[in-house]
Amino acid sequence: MELLGTGRDADVFALGPDRVLRRSRDGRSSEREAGLMRQLVDLGYPLPRVHSAAGPELVMDRVDGPTLGEALLIGAVDASHGAGLLAGLHRDLHDLAWPGAGPGECLVHLDLHPLNVILTASGPVLIDWTNARVGRAGLDVAVTVLVLVQVGLADDALREVLLPFTEEFAARAATPYAAELAEATAFRRANPHQTEDEAARFDEAVEITRRWA
Ligand SMILES: Nc1ncnc2c1ncn2[C@@H]1O[C@H](COP(=O)(O)OP(=O)(O)O)[C@@H](O)[C@H]1O
Ligand SMILES: [Mg+2]
Repeated sequence: MELLGTGRDADVFALGPDRVLRRSRDGRSSEREAGLMRQLVDLGYPLPRVHSAAGPELVMDRVDGPTLGEALLIGAVDASHGAGLLAGLHRDLHDLAWPGAGPGECLVHLDLHPLNVILTASGPVLIDWTNARVGRAGLDVAVTVLVLVQVGLADDALREVLLPFTEEFAARAATPYAAELAEATAFRRANPHQTEDEAARFDEAVEITRRWA
């Protein structure tokens, strides 16, 4: 099978021209994620349609286009436009009426950053729903800012693009996140997929995230 893409958690293979197979490397079941994705498609949110899920494997529509991350890095999308797109995906997700969400809660993605956004001819599509659960909208925004600052600080090549982009996103996000910063910090600290450089600059990243809240 042709390897189409790979992240920190999964490998994604082409399955003919129209579908992909995503396999989580730790063998975790994808069935909860698939159910949630089906509900979201029914609500009209932009994400790939699921065909099947069994154990760690999930088959979904293949989505064509560069990720927002790639587009930002090559300068095809500028920081302001990109930040607006990302803020719009957060807002539209958090505005959905989600079964099981209590007062002040909504569905949160918890990995809603530019490498999980594919830019298609008909608009941005959000992938990688592994972490999604019910929570407060500000938590999603805080996690996004913290992850992006961490990656930006850890990589000199990305720093110049990611930090201004992230500051712009923090300013444009529809929901303030200061109240969820502590929860975002704990959530991120527990993530096993951080690089050594990211972990080494964790406290600095939290400080910048707090400044932009
Ligand atoms: N439905 C899809 N269509 C096309 N490419 C995809 C699709 N889903 C994932 N990919 C590609 O695979 C990469 C990794 O997928 P992702 O679900 O984000 O895994 P990870 O959790 O490892 O980040 C993505 O960045 C993207 O390039
Ligand atoms: Mg991903």
